[in-house]
Amino acid sequence: MQQDSQAGTDLTVLVTKLTLEQKVRLLAGASAWRTYEEPAVGLRAMVASDGPVGVRGEHWDERDTALALPSPTALAATFDEELVTRLGGVLAAEARRKQVDILLAPMLNLHRSPLGGRHFESFAEDPLLTGRIGAAYLRGVQAGGVAATAKHYVANDSETARLSLDVRMDEATLHEVYLAPFEAAVAAGAWVVMSGYNAVDGVTMTEHPLLTEPLKGRWGFDGVVISDWGAVRSIAPSARAAQDLAMPGPGPWGDELLAAVRAGAVAESAVDDKVLRLLRLAGRVGALAGHDQARAVADSTVDEPDRVLLRRAVAAGSVLLRNEGDLLPLAVPGTIAVLGPNASASRIQGGGSAGLFPASVVSPLAGIRQATEGRAEVRYAAGVHLTEWPAPLHTGNARDPRSGEPGVLLRVLDAEGAELYAEHRLLGRILEPAGGELDGAASIEVRALLRPDVTGSWRLAVTGLGHLTLTADGVTVFDDTIVADSSDPTVVHVAPPSRRIDLDLTADQDVDLVLHRELSAGWVVALAAEAPRREPADELTAAVALARDSDVAIIVVGTTEEFESEGFDRSTLDLPGDQDELVRAVAEVNPRTVVIVNAGGPVVLPWREQVPAVLLSWFPGQEAGAGLADILFGVAEPGGRLPTTWPAAMADVPVLNTTPVDGVLAYTEGPHLGYRAWLRGAARPAYWFGHGLGYTTWSYEQLSAPEQVLPGDPFEVVVRVRNSGHRGGREVVQVYLARPDSVLARRPVRWLAGFAGVTAAPGETVDVTVRVAARAVQHWSAAEHEWHTEPGAVRILAGRNADDLPLHTSTEIVAD
Ligand code: BGC
Repeated sequence: MQQDSQAGTDLTVLVTKLTLEQKVRLLAGASAWRTYEEPAVGLRAMVASDGPVGVRGEHWDERDTALALPSPTALAATFDEELVTRLGGVLAAEARRKQVDILLAPMLNLHRSPLGGRHFESFAEDPLLTGRIGAAYLRGVQAGGVAATAKHYVANDSETARLSLDVRMDEATLHEVYLAPFEAAVAAGAWVVMSGYNAVDGVTMTEHPLLTEPLKGRWGFDGVVISDWGAVRSIAPSARAAQDLAMPGPGPWGDELLAAVRAGAVAESAVDDKVLRLLRLAGRVGALAGHDQARAVADSTVDEPDRVLLRRAVAAGSVLLRNEGDLLPLAVPGTIAVLGPNASASRIQGGGSAGLFPASVVSPLAGIRQATEGRAEVRYAAGVHLTEWPAPLHTGNARDPRSGEPGVLLRVLDAEGAELYAEHRLLGRILEPAGGELDGAASIEVRALLRPDVTGSWRLAVTGLGHLTLTADGVTVFDDTIVADSSDPTVVHVAPPSRRIDLDLTADQDVDLVLHRELSAGWVVALAAEAPRREPADELTAAVALARDSDVAIIVVGTTEEFESEGFDRSTLDLPGDQDELVRAVAEVNPRTVVIVNAGGPVVLPWREQVPAVLLSWFPGQEAGAGLADILFGVAEPGGRLPTTWPAAMADVPVLNTTPVDGVLAYTEGPHLGYRAWLRGAARPAYWFGHGLGYTTWSYEQLSAPEQVLPGDPFEVVVRVRNSGHRGGREVVQVYLARPDSVLARRPVRWLAGFAGVTAAPGETVDVTVRVAARAVQHWSAAEHEWHTEPGAVRILAGRNADDLPLHTSTEIVAD
């Protein structure tokens, strides 16, 4: 439990100074991202923002830019808590720059099924790794006086029907696996926990007893339980539960909660406790007069410029899956073919609520060009089309008809069509006008002069809910109503459906486009356009020809937002489009082919043994290309290890299903997810949890452990490793435990119990100490609702991944 010191008394007194009305008002959002202020006690409004790759800020506006870090999956792949904490420091500085008090991250749900749509946003399939990396992240954020949010509590591990999903699992699995990362986050001092949309055992999380026990009871969480956006859907049941703050506002609490308290349906003491927690949080983030100690921490918690650190993080999190014949690192060759749509417009971040607008992005193509400038000829071809959808208008192809400035004109109109508000914007995709709520707004309009650079059939697209019309030079080319097939907030407020229109346009002849959307739910409206495409066969032929004529071919394959994002799960693990065909065709003509995989979660790579090198970059953030070029040309070693097992084929995946039956998703596999499940089955994955190559080799030489351990005590094992290669490097030493003689049938074959990163020069031998927490040898007793330690022999294994564990020893847990 964190101590309030003398502030604790002050806060309790402050609560007594507030009327019931004032107190209840504080418990619901004042707006989408703000809490209420309460001048009577010196409380200002607090601002929350997503998270997790950066701090978007209070507005969805492309002009309000933010640094974009690698996706959480990449952060977990670093197995490097120190680096993740430093990145958390960058986020804290960003939050303060943007006046954000609460960062809505990290996400601590697990990679239970590789189909999970928000895989990219969570860390790993393993609870220990998730907890440790999550704790490192939040320590970095909170050291800067900004609250981190452990979300989504609990079992929100997939997206299908996420608003109503009811997850069922046995009690031991819940505690040992799915609650474990949250327990670690609370132990690390989390100031905020977010309750999920889903239910567990038939009770929705914002009303759940798990908010009380273990969260606020046994674990001693003294912060605020914030709801996921719109997850509070009741008055008394959620207010009686340990749910503290209902976001966003206006929401269901407010006056109705006031009435419920007055009617005795909710105790005033429950309200007081929520308010006390809110004030405690405000004190921590510096939103309460006289309580600004947390913000006294130095502004800069990092000692290297942010972009350099972000670039270093790209290399640290990228996983070299395969490197036959040591193709990587490359000596700079004469000619390089860079291929794949994601090479020039790579996915640097995932979609959904996490989306933000970086000020600049280094694509892989740009990074490779910069790194080889003056030394190599770099040529590019897309090779395939990944999506039927064009990109939103931008400053390169559109002008605002009113000002003539590059970009578009946004207008908000009233019911009579009179202009209430207008502004110049840089992108044809508008998530909200900067002008705020705008009373009387009835429709929204995007206008632009599109300057075609070629003559032919252009591909246009419109996006938004409700009735839309598009005119081109005054002629109506689209007039229809678009209906969402889901009420998920991500669909309504971030990514509603689109429709395509093809239009014949003439080069250099401006076309005046006006997209009009009648407002219903949300503000989102988008206008997109793309020049005529090459036929797919011609596109592929051009790429293959380029590869044949080049010394090296680098293909970036990956996913798109249609395929992998928030609000839905994937239906396949195949790469979209004809990317597999592209890789195969290129590998046939160029034996020096490197494939970079730009995906947030596992995809199937059927050609992986036909190419010498496969590098997984995840969604690498804004410095993507710079960091990848560092790896390709040997400036940096790829440091990542898989935080999640990658299957060879979807049919092999032991835990796949994310579709509830009659609203219920049963975790029938119990604690056996990820590598634990693979270890029990016959199929072998393509790449195991923990796998990842560097640019040197390591030999595992010796493992020592204490002979005996007392129940409830942590212990240390020492692993001797030697850098057996010719280059300095970093190794992630992994320690797993097994209980072959256990009386508990449900034990995993083995489980990760600790890890440590180690660096060594060529030939150097290092003893690495890996700490094993007491919890790693404990199990949850459902009969006694308590942790237990089973006495007896514990097998200890050390090595490089869940399957490659050359060193073994054992210890004995003595009976109490
Ligand atoms: C997501 C949360 C996010 C919130 C606010 C929800 O739809 O599930 O992760 O923090 O929106 O954007």
